[in-house]
Amino acid sequence: MTSVREAIGRAAAELAEAGLESPRVDADILAAHVLGIDRGRLVLAGEFTDEEEARFRDLVAARRAREPLQHLTRTAWFRRIELGVGPGVFVPRPETELLVEWGLGWLRSAGDSPTVADLCAGSGAIAISIAVELPGSKVYAVESGRRAVEWLRRNAGRYGASEHGVTVVAGDVTEPSTLAELDGRVDLVLANPPYLLTTAAGSLPTEVAKHDPYSALFGGPDGLDVIRGLVPRVAALLRSGGGFGMEHDDTHGEVVPALLRAHGAFTDVKLHHDLAGRARFTTATRTAETRPTGSGWQDGTP
Ligand SMILES: C[S@@+](CC[C@H](N)C(=O)[O-])C[C@H]1O[C@@H](n2cnc3c(N)ncnc32)[C@H](O)[C@@H]1O
Repeated sequence: MTSVREAIGRAAAELAEAGLESPRVDADILAAHVLGIDRGRLVLAGEFTDEEEARFRDLVAARRAREPLQHLTRTAWFRRIELGVGPGVFVPRPETELLVEWGLGWLRSAGDSPTVADLCAGSGAIAISIAVELPGSKVYAVESGRRAVEWLRRNAGRYGASEHGVTVVAGDVTEPSTLAELDGRVDLVLANPPYLLTTAAGSLPTEVAKHDPYSALFGGPDGLDVIRGLVPRVAALLRSGGGFGMEHDDTHGEVVPALLRAHGAFTDVKLHHDLAGRARFTTATRTAETRPTGSGWQDGTP
């Protein structure tokens, strides 16, 4: 038996030595996870059993080896929801909460029971947040990664997929057949697609480079491969006057708005920055122009 406080102190020192950014916080979270309690209750914790101590040591060793904290606890918090995450699915990032905030604001002035599509849904962070924070909305979450779809289904189920109206669709967001039955009927599309430039691979922290799926991170040499394929689908899905918000790389502050303007189906194109002043997401409105038929629609290349 070891005192929890002493074990945490030793673990925090080891993690600091390994160069982790928040060693004490990480040690606290892992200890609370082992004990099955909230971090705030650690002050009341006495001793680890031998089995708990062994589990704690294994988790600290994994963290030293740069396994993401969220994979070790199998949990990521996003706005008001707790999502299951692990190998095969992208760990949701706090910056994406800004896009959701914008989407909720848009939806609150858009009338009852809106239809929303979350393209590139991953764990379901965006889709489930919208469904939970705006009861009555009907949300479609589209994801192509096989293992990511499993996490997505589990998370949507945990929050009551039918109660909250999240429909999970396994599919490619760039394919015209994906959600084709909703063409022209969606009120709002939100997307956080893979957008990193492949040249960025060498500069990523180990937690990201080794543990987030490659297909969740990278969008080809200029980061725009999936975005180029997704934009025409968004134009087809949205009703006239429908809204679109998409997160992108901070180097895409000019090219993504230009791509949307060049497409021809969008107006009110606006770039949004985060609190640090970085270009973070772009929003637009579907024009009321007549929809083309057949294959004559532009591909969105600026
Ligand atoms: C950056 S992650 C975002 C996940 C989630 N929306 C979030 O914000 O946490 C991008 C997701 O898009 C998925 N993805 C990549 N290409 C796709 C495609 N063509 N169709 C559908 N999903 C795709 C990846 O598997 C990954 O889960």
